[in-house]
Amino acid sequence: MAVRDVLLSGDPRLRQPSRAVPPSQFGGEVLFALVQDLRDTMAACDGAGLAAPQIGVPLRVVVFGISRNPRYPQAAPIAETVLVNPEVTPLDPELEAGEEGCLSVPGLRAAVPRWRRVRYAAFTPSGEPVVREVEGFHARVVQHECDHLAGILFTDRLG
Ligand code: NI
Repeated sequence: MAVRDVLLSGDPRLRQPSRAVPPSQFGGEVLFALVQDLRDTMAACDGAGLAAPQIGVPLRVVVFGISRNPRYPQAAPIAETVLVNPEVTPLDPELEAGEEGCLSVPGLRAAVPRWRRVRYAAFTPSGEPVVREVEGFHARVVQHECDHLAGILFTDRLG
């Protein structure tokens, strides 16, 4: 359990694609420790989400969730969620622009086009499958965090 340093834009580790977590690590102490570090770091930074590569761990793990977040005052709450090996697919082709920031890009916020409705499939850290269909800010956060797993920052998606 630790608050880790968040890598900043310009660090080449943010640009590397992350690897899938091998199923043999599901339910294991190493994965649980990584998840706890992500949760602690996200909470310390008041973030709405954090991806493992942002703390220098190139694995496909993200956390997100907001209660009432001063960084996103108009967003509906999202229960804290941990996704291992997530895959996101659009449910319809409609894009919607909405404001985003990123703990790796401090001081910058901008309107980013994202799919409005998506389905995501992933595993919990214990290895149970998760499938959800979401829209709006929840869909936006998932797309933002999963972009990090491909080495993509929101600034790459600005026109
Ligand atoms: Ni981010």
